[in-house]
Amino acid sequence: MSFREQQKKANNSAETYWLEQSELVSWYKAPKEVLSTNSNEWTDWYADGELNTSYLALDYHVEQGRGEQTALIYDSPVTGSKQKFSFIELTELVAKFADVLQKQQVVKGDRVLIYMPMIPQAVIAMLACARIGAVHSVVFGGFAAKELAIRIDDAEPKVIVSASCGIEISKVIPYKPLLDNAIELATHKPSSCIIYQREQLTAEMISGRDQDWETQMSSAKGIAAISLKSTDPLYILYTSGTTGKPKGVVRDHGGHAVAMLYSMKNIYGMKAGDTFWAASDVGWVVGHSFIVYGPLMAGCSTILYEGKPVRTPDAGAFWRVCEEYKVNALFSAPTAFRAIAKEDPDAALMENYDLSHLKRLYLAGERLDPATYHWLKEKTQIPVIDHWWQTETGWSIATTPFVDESSEELMLTKAGSSGFPVPGYNVQILDAYGEALPANQQGTVAIKLPMPPGCLTTVYKDEERFKSSYLLTHPGYYVTGDGGYFDEDGYLFIMGRTDDVINVAGHRLSTGEMEESISGHNAVAECAVVGIHDSLKGQVPFGLVVIKNGVTLSDDELVSALKTKVRSDIGAIASLKALIIVERLPKTRSGKILRKTLRQMIDGQDIEIPSTIEDPQVLEELSPRLANLTS
Ligand code: COA
Ligand code: AMP
Repeated sequence: MSFREQQKKANNSAETYWLEQSELVSWYKAPKEVLSTNSNEWTDWYADGELNTSYLALDYHVEQGRGEQTALIYDSPVTGSKQKFSFIELTELVAKFADVLQKQQVVKGDRVLIYMPMIPQAVIAMLACARIGAVHSVVFGGFAAKELAIRIDDAEPKVIVSASCGIEISKVIPYKPLLDNAIELATHKPSSCIIYQREQLTAEMISGRDQDWETQMSSAKGIAAISLKSTDPLYILYTSGTTGKPKGVVRDHGGHAVAMLYSMKNIYGMKAGDTFWAASDVGWVVGHSFIVYGPLMAGCSTILYEGKPVRTPDAGAFWRVCEEYKVNALFSAPTAFRAIAKEDPDAALMENYDLSHLKRLYLAGERLDPATYHWLKEKTQIPVIDHWWQTETGWSIATTPFVDESSEELMLTKAGSSGFPVPGYNVQILDAYGEALPANQQGTVAIKLPMPPGCLTTVYKDEERFKSSYLLTHPGYYVTGDGGYFDEDGYLFIMGRTDDVINVAGHRLSTGEMEESISGHNAVAECAVVGIHDSLKGQVPFGLVVIKNGVTLSDDELVSALKTKVRSDIGAIASLKALIIVERLPKTRSGKILRKTLRQMIDGQDIEIPSTIEDPQVLEELSPRLANLTS
């Protein structure tokens, strides 16, 4: 069936289409019910089906005779180590760690928080949770103690799994003090922490609470995967929303399994035995879906890369990994390739490597800017596919479909576009009143309900927020938070967030969280943070601060103190590019800060001054100070 026919079938006969796709999964109990409405008036997928995600990613392949095949490749230029785990080896480790968790009284439905660098133990911990029906919540290692504490209080984990340190190029980042601090800040206390001691740094353990990973594993025995309901939660992944509090996106087992296998086959064109590399982090959704679950469920070898695109040791690092492991498809963020192109503009380092196995490049996390698209196409001479998705969906909403060269339906990629809606996603561009807009008119990008399998089932413990964030603005639609348009050929262009979420080097951050951190300083009367364009990172945060009367700190001292505060509250990834002290912030008469106008002024765009502005004079005062900030 052609892509267009599949789109039509998924839109018009969702149940039939997704029943057929469910056959990709080896269920314990195959579902008869496909699509049903639950008590929260939301879609349940495959409600009567039973399965286990850890079984599908591991044991299933051993049973299929792929036990000796490499499942996980750990490549760590920052420690100089490499390790391969076959499906048999990984299954044994996961089965044992599941026992370790059970010995810590973790039972089905309990949350386990995983705060770890890019090491195999992070993957093992995730899969072990899935094996026993515990719900994991992985927190990106770059988040600082306060952010971690917020997630601990929301997820209320029985156990936290962590490591002694992370390594950022050559900098050793002690994780344990951050974890201890976070637990101290949090109201909820886990009953135990399991700590993996890395040889680069030994963490101090708290007696009675902390357990050593290796010691626990040495006495563990492997346990089997249990049967779970399709609708049982697999994980909670926190993502930035528009307020200071992150949203806990909940994902189920059954819909997720179908979506992962569907994606690996239809979007990435992968089959068992292939090598798939998502150069991301397990702390982000890309890492969940396409470092861990998708490739392993599809019987592919997956790569866990603890390094950077540049400086570990150079801008040829990605190409080295692709050659060494015969990578068939590489997925990363545009920012990573901008970093590579900046250091190696002629891609001279690429010449050193045999990339003959690499068939396609996939990009996501932010819009693939046309300059980087053209650079990649010219240098690699393979299809460069921008595809759009978000933590909430867990897999691609739009892509340019993978087709083999013999197909008549060859769909070419178009610079700046993330392609066409994937079957199952009925994407519409809406105006402020919820009316569909014609081609080439930009509006709110929304998805007509129902969403396909694999998308979020709720916001953890906050059904109201789930509804208000995504469903209430335009009844009958899921609102993505992105703005964009379809062109006359049906290509979708995603042009950026319409809310206060920004994308910094492929990391999704909330300006609201940064504002909360800045406002927490006792010299600050009020502040605004906006994302501004950056040629490497896509966007970077920029702050404007109004200070209280009587503050004795100099402006320089205050700016430096506030930058440090944001880094220590949220993490180094939230480094403010600049911060200026101003007399007043531009606001509407009802007191709303005009963030969009600020962004437009900084980016040198035409300014839309709302009729509700309190005092237009404020913009005139700010104008000279905001000009040229991004140049
Ligand atoms: N743990 C601890 N600290 C971390 C971290 C982690 N997991 N990840 C990043 N940081 C720190 C960095 O060390 C850096 O700290 P510094 O300011 O003290 O030097 C800070 O956060 C900013 O890091 P980063 O945003 O990575 O910027 P960079 O200048 O070090 O590197 C890139 C720039 C483009 C090379 C890098 O951002 C990159 O590889 N981006 C791709 C991201 C990606 O794959 N995202 C997933 C999308 S699918
Ligand atoms: P995250 O939830 O961290 O994956 O971030 C999701 C957001 O990143 C989306 O809502 C978009 O704003 C942006 N994004 C991700 N992929 C793309 C893409 N291919 N094109 C444009 N924006 C993207």
